[in-house]
Amino acid sequence: MQLEIISGAIQRQTAQAIVVSLFEGVTEPGGATGAVDAALGGQIRALIAAGDFRGKRNEIVVLYPAGAIPAQRVIVVGLGKPEKFTSDVIRQTAATAAKKARDLGVTHLHTIVHGAGVGGIVPEQAAEAVVEGAFLGLYRFHELKTQLEDARPDLESLTLVELDAAKRPALTEGLRAGQIIAESTILARNLVNRPANIATPAHIAEAAQQLAEETELTCRVMEKDEMESLGMGALLSVNQGGGEPARMAILEHNAGRDDLPTVVLVGKGITFDSGGISIKPGKGMWRMKGDMGGAAAVIGALRAVTLLGLPLHVVGLTPLTENMPDACASKPGDVVTSLKGLTIEIINTDAEGRMVLADALTYAGEFHPDAIFDIATLTGSKVTALGGQIAAVMGDEALIARLRAAGEATRERAWQLPLFEEYGEQLKSNVADVQHLGGRPAGCITAGFFLSKFPPADVPWVHVDIAGAEISDKDQPYIPKGATGFGMRLLVETLRRWG
Ligand code: BES
Ligand code: MN
Ligand code: ZN
Repeated sequence: MQLEIISGAIQRQTAQAIVVSLFEGVTEPGGATGAVDAALGGQIRALIAAGDFRGKRNEIVVLYPAGAIPAQRVIVVGLGKPEKFTSDVIRQTAATAAKKARDLGVTHLHTIVHGAGVGGIVPEQAAEAVVEGAFLGLYRFHELKTQLEDARPDLESLTLVELDAAKRPALTEGLRAGQIIAESTILARNLVNRPANIATPAHIAEAAQQLAEETELTCRVMEKDEMESLGMGALLSVNQGGGEPARMAILEHNAGRDDLPTVVLVGKGITFDSGGISIKPGKGMWRMKGDMGGAAAVIGALRAVTLLGLPLHVVGLTPLTENMPDACASKPGDVVTSLKGLTIEIINTDAEGRMVLADALTYAGEFHPDAIFDIATLTGSKVTALGGQIAAVMGDEALIARLRAAGEATRERAWQLPLFEEYGEQLKSNVADVQHLGGRPAGCITAGFFLSKFPPADVPWVHVDIAGAEISDKDQPYIPKGATGFGMRLLVETLRRWG
């Protein structure tokens, strides 16, 4: 989709459709919406007066000017209550309008920049949110369909129309960032939507390598034999069930820049989680193709970070393997030695995510980081505690504060859980240094507590459990049913606010 900015009046645009918006409770629209209303002889005011349009969030109506203005259609979208207005409402509004336009067969859409200047949202942020919302709302995963039941063509262009020419530089910046962030989210969504017979560890490592070829990122793929010689016994225990050999993509932005703060992002990359010998029930097992959602978010984040040119050294580590049952697979009760040297008793082979993360978190020390984040579809217990849409975070308080603030801005929200030392009791093993499972009580926390043993000491670290957030069961304004890309925007916003 081509993006453009025009300095001019929206009601003067020759367009297949123009988009304006309206707050709930407004009876006399002002600004661009007011100008369109006036040009249409008060049609929008009449809609409101009749009670047919109330401006509720994502409420939508299409008007046909029939020559009163050059545009063929006017799409009016509700912004909801002004006191509840945020950049997330802008994303939703842009998505709702763009999807409606596509449904109508519109291929070139003109829109105002909703809410620029309202509620403390500066024009740059507003433009970013419009572009992000439109791209993410229009996302469809078509690559495996040979027949499209919905033959509506994609939008070819989106034009932001702003009367005040002085805002143009800010809008240009916002538009650029919005496109980068949306396309990076879409990269993550595609990796999650792809089934496990396609998105294998090799495939995902290849995607990371291809990304590096297209950008300034560097990428090295660690092969299984290197993991063996390093002694990544925890990661490799998950790969023992055969199938595809394990890999780890190592993506770097600003590699070698010792002058910059270093942040390592570790993403769980289980390309399919059958549970292994502790096999899962069949119902809903297909969802476990998304158990590499953390890795997908990290790869997307590295893309965004490099294209945004952030002044940080960022490293992305994606431990990639399937978790399959097999005669060679790990068995409950097995003890393995991690890269850290700690011996781990495997209690349940379905608690595999923490095993791959353990070694990747230790390996993160190679980069002498100032901060480490891991992101993982880690526990069903997290879904029980917070639901599928909210991430659980544990670890360093200062990093958590940064992450949670970014979560409010992106609406990829996070809530802290404690890592009190009392939880350590649950991980005591009879035969090894530690067992990887703490039983049913506080399962999300004991998973985090287990992980806390593996990053280098004295490096601030945060664990982000995104279980259930990687795939949405329902259509939301800018999150269509299916892979969400959850965590990508959260990580990038955290890094954008670093300085
Ligand atoms: N990948 C799952 C966690 C998960 C659950 C992700 C729901 C997405 C949605 C993880 O590897 C897992 O299987 N966890 C088990 C561990 C248990 C068997 C000890 C869980 O939390 O149920
Ligand atoms: Mn599992
Ligand atoms: Zn898993």
